Amino acid sequence: MAAFRTRLFVVAAVTVMSATCLETTFTHSAYLDSAHEKYYLQWMYDADIITFRVEVATLGYVGFGISPNGDMTGSDIVTGFVTDQGDTFFYDRYATARATPTIDASQDWTLEASGENGTHTFLQFSRNLVLCDDTDRTIKAGTTRVIWAYHEEDPRHDTELMYHGETRGARSLMLLSGPQLTGEMPEDVQSMEFLNDAYAVPYKRVTNYLYRGFKVPDVGGKKHVIAFEPVVQPGHEGLVHHIFLYACLEDLNPDLYDGVQHLRQSPDYPEDWRSCKVTIIAWDVGGAGIHYPEQVGLSVGAPGDPTFLLMETHYNNVQHKKGIKDSSGIRLLYTSQLREYDLGFMQLGMEVRRTQAIPPGCQSFVSVGTCYPDCLENAMEEESIDKINVVGVHFHAHLAARKMRMRHVRNGVELPWLGSDENFDFNFQQTVRLQREVEVLKGDYLILECTYNTEDRRETTYGGARTQDEMCLGHILHYPNMKLRRCKSNPHRAAYLAALGATGVTFSAAKNDFVVTRPPHMAGKTMKKLLHHFASWNEELRQKFQEVQITGNTSAICLKKDSSYEEYHQQKVTMREPPPVILRPYKETDVCKTPRTSTVASSVKLRKESNEYINGIHGAKRKSARKRGSRRKTRKNHRKLNLSPWRHHSGARKTGW
Ligand SMILES: *[C@@H]1O[C@H](CO)[C@@H](O)[C@H](O)[C@H]1NC(C)=O
Ligand SMILES: *[C@@H]1O[C@H](CO)[C@@H](O)[C@H](O)[C@H]1NC(C)=O
Repeated sequence: MAAFRTRLFVVAAVTVMSATCLETTFTHSAYLDSAHEKYYLQWMYDADIITFRVEVATLGYVGFGISPNGDMTGSDIVTGFVTDQGDTFFYDRYATARATPTIDASQDWTLEASGENGTHTFLQFSRNLVLCDDTDRTIKAGTTRVIWAYHEEDPRHDTELMYHGETRGARSLMLLSGPQLTGEMPEDVQSMEFLNDAYAVPYKRVTNYLYRGFKVPDVGGKKHVIAFEPVVQPGHEGLVHHIFLYACLEDLNPDLYDGVQHLRQSPDYPEDWRSCKVTIIAWDVGGAGIHYPEQVGLSVGAPGDPTFLLMETHYNNVQHKKGIKDSSGIRLLYTSQLREYDLGFMQLGMEVRRTQAIPPGCQSFVSVGTCYPDCLENAMEEESIDKINVVGVHFHAHLAARKMRMRHVRNGVELPWLGSDENFDFNFQQTVRLQREVEVLKGDYLILECTYNTEDRRETTYGGARTQDEMCLGHILHYPNMKLRRCKSNPHRAAYLAALGATGVTFSAAKNDFVVTRPPHMAGKTMKKLLHHFASWNEELRQKFQEVQITGNTSAICLKKDSSYEEYHQQKVTMREPPPVILRPYKETDVCKTPRTSTVASSVKLRKESNEYINGIHGAKRKSARKRGSRRKTRKNHRKLNLSPWRHHSGARKTGW
């Protein structure tokens, strides 16, 4: 495989590209087919342009698209094929239905290289990230659904397309995430694995959370974990939904629990595992591992570092399959060449509790969890630091979640979001390395907003562990490390009670919950009881619940490495005022509505120059190179489809790669 790619690179460089203007060092890659054998995608991007290369096990046509939701309708699609004569036909298309996509009047994708090798077709093409028209989708940070298809044969005419049948699919990718892999591994890199041991996955329930304890191996003094990788047993890609590694608030005896495993609901689940609430690694289905930035590493083996870790594996056995034995887990790569900083991993958002309550029938309901500045500030003061640098973000939620956004507020002014995903996909949740580190200072608020759609639900959705329950979690990877592990909030139960009509509320020690004191007909009821017996959901009540998220009092959780479980309990009942109103919200600039800036203009010039350079060198490639001159499309400057098709002679046949 490696040899193949090297050869590919050479031919691509010879046929179309000059070494000066276009690099073909792809920074990202993924298989799009679930078997990981037929359809291989690589990509790279800069501030304006994204370049893809597909290698597909067919000599027929290949399709690739950017979809709003994984469906073909509304997708921006390219199709291409290489004829036996070595000519490539390549079109920018647009699908308005699940039918042959129409050729786009404005051809905005540029073919850069193409070829066949006897079994596979490859196409390399690029596009501006933002195109500002209705038939091309803007490519943004966050999750993008890509769709793919191919056919065994080339069409008989250049613009024709036969139906691809079952050789098609969709998957989610973070196209604009930071680099997946960075630099080289130090020579002394070693790995430690935390794996399940042929665990017989239950088949009666769909959702199963398995917990397995691990004694952290003796690594001989302080080391830095510099990367983690998922170890998913082949064939179990759809079954293993997420794997988290937790450290514990209490000091547990690692020897007692090494290799011990329990389902969450097991009556034998060790009581002291309940303090294992410090997430240090979070991997979700579809995601890749992550290599930490070069100045940071996760400390292991030093005094105070965890000696015991609890691994949570979420099995999602949708098909109720029997007889599955799973040995998936997590691999940590570590080195003794210590980096400058210890990495910290902090959980933001909401506690996974029933005080996250989402009414049914909502098209868009926003839950809000706040990290209050006093919590952050105290943690920074303990370390004698004034700021932390955030290098990565990871969102976690369940099926009803549609959007996730981590807001960052300083003195009432909102700064650019730490992360925003407008296309959240339960089946694809990945730790994203930020393009640029973000400083969080003392006094800043970090507010996680999770948007849900419950139109298809009839019951209230609560925070909880089951797949059909919800979560609203955001993790930030940062340095320097602090003792702070959780900085979150949920609406306070009293705020919900007020929304349900209570005019007086008190804490009942007997019920260990807040109960209504007034009006009399509700007296003594808890939130759970009221919701069960009194609430019939209507627009007004939905609206009130929505207001509770934003203006209601909260219970704030500020949990440190050395916090006690009692402290945590106390925080759950204490009432806090909601965060102050954001005076100036952050607005993403809509590049399609703002006038062209000089930077764009100068980059157009730069491109043109390099095109001339290409033209000079590869006279025969004039035509395609000229087309590339229009890559910097502006609103007025579309390349109109002329009658001659996009035709590009790759010459790859002759060299046979
Ligand atoms: C063509 O390339 C693919 C790699 O994607 C490789 O697996 C295959 O063996 C190659 N076929 C030939 C005939 O070289
Ligand atoms: C909200 O919390 C504050 C601070 O604890 C308290 O003074 C206030 O009465 C609470 N408001 C409501 C409506 O419970």
